Amino acid sequence: MNTSSLPAFGLGSFRLQGQQVIDSVRMGLELGYRHIDTAQIYGNEAEVGQAIAEGDVARDSLFVTTKIWTENLAGDRLIPSLKDSLHKLRLPQVDLTLIHWPSPDDAVPLNETMQALAEAKALGLTRLTGISNFTVAHMEQAIAAVGAAEIATNQVEIHPFLQNRKVVEFARAHGIHLTAYMPLAYGRVMQDATLQQIAARHGVTPAQIALAWSLQQGFAVIPSSTRRDNLAANLEAVKIRLSDEDMSAIARLDRGERLANPGFAPQWD
Ligand SMILES: NC(=O)c1ccc[n+]([C@@H]2O[C@H](COP(=O)([O-])OP(=O)(O)OC[C@H]3O[C@@H](n4cnc5c(N)ncnc54)[C@H](OP(=O)(O)O)[C@@H]3O)[C@@H](O)[C@H]2O)c1
Repeated sequence: MNTSSLPAFGLGSFRLQGQQVIDSVRMGLELGYRHIDTAQIYGNEAEVGQAIAEGDVARDSLFVTTKIWTENLAGDRLIPSLKDSLHKLRLPQVDLTLIHWPSPDDAVPLNETMQALAEAKALGLTRLTGISNFTVAHMEQAIAAVGAAEIATNQVEIHPFLQNRKVVEFARAHGIHLTAYMPLAYGRVMQDATLQQIAARHGVTPAQIALAWSLQQGFAVIPSSTRRDNLAANLEAVKIRLSDEDMSAIARLDRGERLANPGFAPQWD
C-alpha cells in the first residue's frame, strides 16, 4: 500500500494473545481489514506476523503499525528493538512506527527518541513515523524535533466518553492526523442510552455509531474484536452518516472517562 497516509479503518490487537490474536487477524484480513495495529509490549507481534504470512493479502495492500515500548526509547535501543519487531512480524519494513508513550518522567529526551525514529525511517525499517499518547506539550516538542510532516498520526484514546478536545484542537491546528484508540471504550459504548437511541434510529448498533462518530471527525479507528460478527459489523460503520443532531448529542457524552491511564502516563491535558 504505497499511500502516504494511514487507512481510516484498522484492527486493534491489544490484550489478544496466541491463537486468539492469530484468529482475530485472520478473520479481519478475510473480512477486508487492511490495517493491523500491534505493539512491542502487546507480546503478539510474532502471532500477528504469522497471521499475515498465512493470509492471502499481498504485502503492498496491507498497512502494519507497531509501537516502540518505553524501555526502547534511547538512541541506541530504538533501532535494534524495531529490527527485533520486524523479525517477529516477518517483515522487512512496517508501514508505521509509533512512539508508544512519551518517556516516563521524560527520562529519555524526546529529541533523542525522535531522531532515532527518523533514522529508522531513513534506513527503510518503517515507511512512516508517528507518536502515541502524546499531550499538547509532547506534540510541541515532537514538532520542534522533526517537524509535523514526520508525524503521520498521534494515536490517542478517543471515544464518546473521552473526547480529548485539547489534543484534537492542537493536532488539527498543526496538521497532525489522529487515530482513536479504544474507540468503543472497550465495549462500554454498547450500554449508553444516547448511543442506543441514535443506533436504533439508524438501524445499527451503538458500537457502529461510536466508530462512525470518530470517522466522521477524520480520525482513524482501530477497534479490536475476537468475534467474526463484531469484526464484520464494525467495518460497516464506514457507511453510516450521522446528522448534525447526532454529532451534537454524542458531543455531550464527554465525561473525561480515561480507560488507559498507567502510572507512567504523562500529565494529561
Ligand atoms: N496506543 C496505546 O497506548 C493504545 C492503548 C489501548 C489500545 N490501543 C489500540 O487500540 C485498539 C482498540 O482498543 P481496545 O481493544 O482496548 O478497545 P476497543 O476496541 O474500544 O474495544 C474492544 C472491546 O469491545 C468489544 N467489541 C468489539 N466490537 C464490538 C461490537 N461490534 N459490539 C460489541 N462489542 C464489541 C470487544 O469484545 P469482543 O472481542 O467480544 O468483540 C472488546 O471487548 C487496541 O486493540 C490497540 O491496538 C492502543
